[in-house]
Amino acid sequence: MVRSPCVSVGRERAERVRRELLRAGLLRTDLRPRREGERVLFPVTDPGALGGLLGDLGAELTWSEFEEVPRRPRSLREAVEGIPEELLNEVPSSFDVVGDIAVIHIPPALEPYAAELGRAVLKMSPSIRVVLGEAGPVSGEFRTREYVHLAGERRTHTVHRENGCVFEVDLARAYFSPRLSGERSRVVSMVREGERVLDMFSGVGPFAIQIARHRGVPVTAVELNPDAYRFLVRNVALNRVERLVEAVNEDARRVAASRPSAYDRVIMNHPSASLEFLREALIAAREGATLHVYGFASSVADWEWKVRSRLEELGRVPSGLTVRKVREVSASRIIAVADVTL
Ligand SMILES: C[S@@+](CC[C@H](N)C(=O)[O-])C[C@H]1O[C@@H](n2cnc3c(N)ncnc32)[C@H](O)[C@@H]1O
Repeated sequence: MVRSPCVSVGRERAERVRRELLRAGLLRTDLRPRREGERVLFPVTDPGALGGLLGDLGAELTWSEFEEVPRRPRSLREAVEGIPEELLNEVPSSFDVVGDIAVIHIPPALEPYAAELGRAVLKMSPSIRVVLGEAGPVSGEFRTREYVHLAGERRTHTVHRENGCVFEVDLARAYFSPRLSGERSRVVSMVREGERVLDMFSGVGPFAIQIARHRGVPVTAVELNPDAYRFLVRNVALNRVERLVEAVNEDARRVAASRPSAYDRVIMNHPSASLEFLREALIAAREGATLHVYGFASSVADWEWKVRSRLEELGRVPSGLTVRKVREVSASRIIAVADVTL
């Protein structure tokens, strides 16, 4: 228990006083307010600054004992226990959150302490129920990753909310990254009424579903991984966009090539392979359409060069091409996107 100056007020005025104290920055949030008969006691930081507040609200200044509010650690480094001092600067400063699952990168030096990292994440974030460690890179045709369970419940399935939509996903079976949320908003905001959109690598549907839901235009979402496709179909239903999203479990190359000039916008969010699909994307896109071509590169200029070279090989000169960095992957690698206007 901690002794502190406090404001004592009748129960009926307690909520008003609490709000006033909070607004004035005088309420101590490290101590728990408490009831004493018909009065409520609020611990305060600076009794001298209360001024007219007390009389106006029928409150009195006094002293009392309060229970401490357990303070949540603000960083993983602060939360972690049992890791030797000399390794503390290896502790990651952040982790990804997908629904109620935290995904953390475990630096090699911290592998023997992976469980401690997991427990630290749970301590920091009350909404996290599962902590997974990355057990390898995103790889293979379906762009999935292996995970190790570090703490909390044993599952890889969750429900994630993003930009007003919900997405069910099983991280061990389908690709999903919350880090693309800003990029998805950017693309959604570019879509205009009357457009027809092709999402060639839709995963569990975040681009396609947000476009359909927020822009009300038809989208064809193509996904080859049967597990990701299953979640795509489920998410289309969860977000009530069945009438707008056509989900297709096929090779995007075949779908695009079989629909000449059918689309005003083509999303190619497959950074490790998008250029291999550009020929077919150009078939599906009508004259004047926009392509969003994602890729790994060493810089924005590097990606611009790669996209321009591939377009040239295919005999196309774009009427517009702007490139931006989407995010850093490592010190020497970024994901970039080229917005190509035909
Ligand atoms: C980087 S993920 C992008 C997922 C999604 N756009 C997102 O934002 O979450 C690429 C996706 O393309 C799918 N994919 C790979 N090859 C494909 C192909 N030939 N046709 C259709 N989808 C494919 C993978 O299974 C994976 O889900």
